Amino acid sequence: TNPLRLGIAGLGTVGAGVVKIVQTHADLLAARGGRPIRIVAVSARSRGRERGVALDAYAWEDDPVALARRDDFDVLLELMGGEDGPAKAAVEAAIETGKHVVTANKAMLAHHGQAMAEAAEARGVALRYEAAVAGGIPIVKALGEGLAANGIRRVMGVMNGTCNYILTEMQARGADYAEVLEEAQRLGYAEADPSFDVGGVDAAHKLALLAALGFGTRVDFAGVQTEGIDRVTLTDIAHAEDMGYRIKLLGVASMSEAGLEQRMTPCLVPVDSALGRLAGVTNAVMVEGDFVGATHYEGPGAGEGPTASAVMADVLDIARGLIGPAFGAPAASLTAAPRAADAGA
Ligand code: NDP
Ligand code: HSE
Repeated sequence: TNPLRLGIAGLGTVGAGVVKIVQTHADLLAARGGRPIRIVAVSARSRGRERGVALDAYAWEDDPVALARRDDFDVLLELMGGEDGPAKAAVEAAIETGKHVVTANKAMLAHHGQAMAEAAEARGVALRYEAAVAGGIPIVKALGEGLAANGIRRVMGVMNGTCNYILTEMQARGADYAEVLEEAQRLGYAEADPSFDVGGVDAAHKLALLAALGFGTRVDFAGVQTEGIDRVTLTDIAHAEDMGYRIKLLGVASMSEAGLEQRMTPCLVPVDSALGRLAGVTNAVMVEGDFVGATHYEGPGAGEGPTASAVMADVLDIARGLIGPAFGAPAASLTAAPRAADAGA
């Protein structure tokens, strides 16, 4: 059987994790994908940087767009990040040259996902993004495939590992906000610009993607009412605890006759509840469907292993020939949802 050949743009936390899975689990991946999975070429900013993985067997490109245009692989893994710039250019080049794309980049998809999905479908290639939402939790698959027979009423949850880590550590050991943020950065949880995490923007990107997938509408990131945790103090956390509550950065997207409402804001949740107990980098997502009822998914929301696991799940789907539309229905058929009167920008 023909191997499925990968080109990887970005060899940081997530990219290095992907290389480790491919190198560790060659037989398992070949069995589950029905064909061998091979890395052919890679790209990052600094060639000489030590990454904890052997890269000698792969071709190197300094320029991710040149990588995306090579004709010796089938799937581009975009693991650089950034809303525009080289990530967007590389994804566009890959689609144009007939390659499937797997990305972890929610910022790019929240802004350009619709256009990219249309381009991918027109070219007959896949655009997949399991790793972009809630790290290791297979929520894109759950919502887009497992619950596809339901009318989705509500999607909600804790979708940023960095924020949940900061809030947990502040509550548990009275740690200083700035100090714990630095820890989250060291652990590989935070975005390149951590203000995206603590400002709620990263979680809002994710909520907008899940809302589009769940409600079958166009991604409406600008319609997410967003407030981060950057003004939450130890005193706020202590007062909440005294009253039996914890502070969580909680996202809620709901569809009603009034339209689509999307909010990502710090909320009080009871200490003795599933969300109140959610600790560290863990994320949780709840989806309510009209036939299935309420479903709940929980797991590590960021970090090398969990995110690489989600990237490789998409690669395996492509190996198996599963290349359906990115947002559940053909992208060109998606319409913009009206915003509920009191929500959105
Ligand atoms: P890192 O900052 O660790 O890695 C980014 C990689 O991209 C680096 O290898 C860097 O090169 C490379 N890169 C950046 N800019 C360029 C450029 N202009 N040209 C070529 N290469 C470039 O990021 P992460 O691995 O943490 O994140 C990657 C993506 O995954 C982002 O979209 C992020 O939002 C997403 N994500 C991250 C998660 C996490 O837990 N970290 C979880 C879920 C999604 P070099 O190493 O040489 O500097
Ligand atoms: N910075 C993100 C987080 C990475 O902390 O959740 C996972 O998307």
